[in-house]
Amino acid sequence: MTQIGIFFGTDSGTTRLIAKKLAKLLGAAAAKPVNINRCSADELLQYDALILGTPAYGIDELPGLNTRIAEPSWHEFMPQVAGRSLSGKRIALFGLGDQEKYPDRFAHSLIHLYRWAVAGGADVVGQWPQDGYQFEHSPALVDGRFVGLIIDQRSQSLLTDERLQRWVAQIAPALTAAAQPETL
Ligand SMILES: Cc1cc2nc3c(=O)[nH]c(=O)nc-3n(C[C@H](O)[C@H](O)[C@H](O)COP(=O)(O)O)c2cc1C
Repeated sequence: MTQIGIFFGTDSGTTRLIAKKLAKLLGAAAAKPVNINRCSADELLQYDALILGTPAYGIDELPGLNTRIAEPSWHEFMPQVAGRSLSGKRIALFGLGDQEKYPDRFAHSLIHLYRWAVAGGADVVGQWPQDGYQFEHSPALVDGRFVGLIIDQRSQSLLTDERLQRWVAQIAPALTAAAQPETL
């Protein structure tokens, strides 16, 4: 696929909103964002460049019926792609959370997408600094950086658009190159 695939999970719609903002910033380079509960494994795996987003629900898990959200989500989707090779794919991750209400497990769900991507052999891009956030603990940190962009629409919504713009500038060259490799 010559476009960047964008897939998200959501309960109350915020992660969908962020996915749409990302698609708008990327323009023609990105496909229309798809809710993960409305796609097959093959639909996702057809892309060489991916942006995957999840909100944080539950404790140390991906959102889904297990975390009492209204519809199936990443938790139900992951078994379809667990163990599949992601070699040659470039993946950027974004996670939503609420640092004021959940400072002890801020944006934790994102780490599960990261571990799956790394285990499959993908090149994960778009790591993000923790400066500007206030929390006690986040499992989404590896080597002191978030494994992807973290958005907090509950307590820092005024920072969202600027964060999105900066992150897209950071990831767009790498994702576009993966989606449209030069032909020999
Ligand atoms: C029941 C519930 C549990 C949540 N648990 C966490 C959490 O553990 N960590 C966190 O950072 N945010 C947590 N949040 C905040 C959500 O991740 C955040 O509001 C997110 O933007 C929701 O995204 P959505 O509208 O796409 O579902 C929780 C929110 C609710 C309502």
